[in-house]
Amino acid sequence: MAESTKTAKLTIDGKDYDLPVYAGTSGPDVIDIRKLYGQAGVFTYDPGFTSTASCDSTITYIDGDRGQLLHRGYPIDQLAEKSHYLEVCYLLLYGELPSPAQLEDFESRVTNHTMIHEQMMYLFRGYRRDAHPMAIMVGVVGAMSAFYHDSTDISDPWQREVASIRMVAKMPTIAAMAYKYSIGQPFVYPRNDLDYASNFLRMCFAVPAADYEVNPILSRAMDRIFTLHADHEQNASTSTVRLASSSGANPFACIAAGIACLWGPAHGGANQACLEMLQEIGTPDRIPEFIARAKDKDDPFRLMGFGHRVYKNFDPRAKVMKQSADEVLDLLGIEDNPTLQVAKELEKAALADPYFADKKLFPNVDFYSGIILEAMGFPTSMFTPIFALSRTVGWISQWKEMISDPQLKIGRPRQLYHGETLRDYVDIENR
Ligand code: SDX
Repeated sequence: MAESTKTAKLTIDGKDYDLPVYAGTSGPDVIDIRKLYGQAGVFTYDPGFTSTASCDSTITYIDGDRGQLLHRGYPIDQLAEKSHYLEVCYLLLYGELPSPAQLEDFESRVTNHTMIHEQMMYLFRGYRRDAHPMAIMVGVVGAMSAFYHDSTDISDPWQREVASIRMVAKMPTIAAMAYKYSIGQPFVYPRNDLDYASNFLRMCFAVPAADYEVNPILSRAMDRIFTLHADHEQNASTSTVRLASSSGANPFACIAAGIACLWGPAHGGANQACLEMLQEIGTPDRIPEFIARAKDKDDPFRLMGFGHRVYKNFDPRAKVMKQSADEVLDLLGIEDNPTLQVAKELEKAALADPYFADKKLFPNVDFYSGIILEAMGFPTSMFTPIFALSRTVGWISQWKEMISDPQLKIGRPRQLYHGETLRDYVDIENR
């Protein structure tokens, strides 16, 4: 961490405390409160971490006011247009865009780790066929901690590297298997002659009874969706992976914890919830009814795919996703997709409404993604597994950064306690 450039003065009960302030290369300065409890005997209080920096990172930067997302300094719209997912994976994992030789080597290492241990097939059989694919992914990814013991010694940089490659490589295979299992079709093995996105599409949609040709339009759109979801600073699931990993736990088990957190509708589960909401709205004339519900304090309903903890402007990923939705549906010859029409009308109506404008609520990454995924043939239950697949490289990059920090400490927050004060046990006959 850079040297402190200034101090913040805190006065409690007439006593002054000077706290070091650090500046990053971008974004808000931070006040270092690590010694506050020792000096002043008080904690800070920030349940949703709205004003708390949990770590010092160099991977991703978000400027919420400007609607900017940078991965190692490169803006997401340029990466989505000019790069591709495995190159973005390399950038996130190693900090720089790869040379041609570095990219070829990285893609070869990922490609040659896409199969999973054959015995893991039996794990799927223990689930009901109607299990949500996210329930399967949490279980199967967690089970990787029992199959790859040669890449779980996190103190060994080489084993950390192998675990990273294995996670990036195997997530599409596991996600596709979860899908196949849910529809009662046989698993399709990965192929080394296909690129990452094409391999995933084939593992999802190929059947033994027919040849499967990957549609290049869908493959490019799939790869772009992977890129748009790759990493996003210290979001809830990434923070989950960091906290779980801070105890030195098995990396695969920590990724499973991240998958569990991502599943929630307030986070990665919003893409499924958003499409289901758009389908429930059905036609533009019902939009006012749903806008009213979203504004009603007594109604827990929220516009799914809208709002963000950090973005108080357009989510740059939503902009790219919206363009991609138009392109993909047009190229697929899907005219006048009613769900896309409702989405566009809903966005227009919400952004014109003072409630959303005043609270700076804009479409986020989940607002348009489901429309593309549905057009590609995925059921809504596969939307969040695809988010999890894409975000694995972000979780792993953040994990690697944290684990390799010699200052690493186990994460152990404190609390504001409002429970019972000390009292003696009462025997049951006296209650
Ligand atoms: C992701 O963190 C990340 O980076 C996440 C993510 C990533 O890539 O990892 O970007 C992915 O999770 C995107 C977000 C997906 N979730 C949704 O689309 C679900 C709907 N959105 C919300 O639930 C909400 O906006 C959150 C959870 C995304 C953010 O919530 P915050 O920051 O805790 O804000 P809040 O709940 O305190 O809301 C502030 C105000 C409240 O009104 P007041 O109490 O101040 O009067 O805005 C209102 C909220 O009621 N509000 C909404 C709303 N979102 C916030 N009102 C209606 N509809 C919404 N969608």
